[in-house]
Amino acid sequence: MALRQTAFLFTLNKRSPNLNYVAQRLGSWWSQVEMGPPDAILGVTEAYKRDTNPNKINLGVGAYRDDNGKPYVLPCVRKAESQIAAKNLDKEYSPISGSADFCKYSIQLALGDDSEVVKSGRNATVQTISGTGALRVGAAFLKGFYPFSKTVYIPSPSWGNHTPIFKHSGMDVKSYKFYDPKSCGFDFEGACNDIMSIPEKSIILLHACAHNPTGVDPTPEQWQELSNLIKKKNLFPFFDMAYQGFASGNIDKDAHAVRLFLKEGHNIALCQSYAKNMGLYGERVGAFSITTADNDETARVLSQIKILIRPMYSNPPINGARIVSEILGDSKLKADWLLEVKEMANRIISVRSKLRENLKKEGSTRNWQHITDQIGMFCFTGLNAEQVDKLVKEHSVYLTKDGRISMAGVTSKNVEYLAHAIHQVTK
Ligand code: LMR
Repeated sequence: MALRQTAFLFTLNKRSPNLNYVAQRLGSWWSQVEMGPPDAILGVTEAYKRDTNPNKINLGVGAYRDDNGKPYVLPCVRKAESQIAAKNLDKEYSPISGSADFCKYSIQLALGDDSEVVKSGRNATVQTISGTGALRVGAAFLKGFYPFSKTVYIPSPSWGNHTPIFKHSGMDVKSYKFYDPKSCGFDFEGACNDIMSIPEKSIILLHACAHNPTGVDPTPEQWQELSNLIKKKNLFPFFDMAYQGFASGNIDKDAHAVRLFLKEGHNIALCQSYAKNMGLYGERVGAFSITTADNDETARVLSQIKILIRPMYSNPPINGARIVSEILGDSKLKADWLLEVKEMANRIISVRSKLRENLKKEGSTRNWQHITDQIGMFCFTGLNAEQVDKLVKEHSVYLTKDGRISMAGVTSKNVEYLAHAIHQVTK
């Protein structure tokens, strides 16, 4: 507090002994507010920052790091930024639904250049505040306009933010089996059995690729069966695609499930994010789409989504959308991006093998095959809460309580330390 201000308050205090009482009373509006718990994912970074151990590793939040453990800005993003700067653009408000170019490029990226849906205008697409915003807008739309059940079935486990997002929007959340702790893989049979018992016309949330938190994805054959089953049960598929390109390194391969479902005649909801695949985390840029029966339905759906967005945040920020449009609309920059996203995916794939090798070198006799079988940003290690606690307290290795590690935080420099620490808590 500035000196003069302190002196003023001191004089005031002397003159009026009741001032503390008044201040206390004025400050008492929120005395009933209890301290909330830290966020299950973002809270890990806060704890990591407080640790003074020079060997500490943050494997909490899913944000890409280069092999020196540093945040990475894609070269194509830097180029796009300088191209945009040279255009001297204004800072006017975006439309409520965001940049039209951005929406067009985003849905083409998801569904492919030859998509019948895109060609016939059967998509209502809006720009959103990253993937979380897409989910939130989508949930609000379903709550308001989905004519059947307001229950959404999410895989068990699922990204920690899915349940709160749907609940905040007034939806009910239930789950279906997804992960098999015995194999550390996909519980296909369990998933099918559970889906069979979901009431008809409910909503089912599917991770399009790089399932978060498990890194476990169905095979193309299993996706086919899931599509058949979901059609038979008349469920509404709601896709969360936060990692297109980031899982396998190939944008078409990672969009397989979404495109298959459309080919099979489903109408879907789709959330996209550019946080991971373009490294645009803090730009908060994503998209939400609903596929419709025809152009007329698209216009009506879009009008209602805009009415939902307007009181939430009015219209989305312009910068991230400009970067995405610059990259996807410029064939040279797009080609650069496809290579760069592949490089990120490949670094993660290679560091998975290194972690497995180093665990073997440490003498671990456990089966760590799932580290290399799983895909994308995360590895669901199978470590229990007690082992996680030891990793944090005794080795300064930070991860979420469910045993998920962000593979992006593993580098050729810290992988030996990490393997040693994991072996110490699991032997
Ligand atoms: C994660 O799961 O770590 C990321 O998707 C970041 C987040 O917002 O949770």
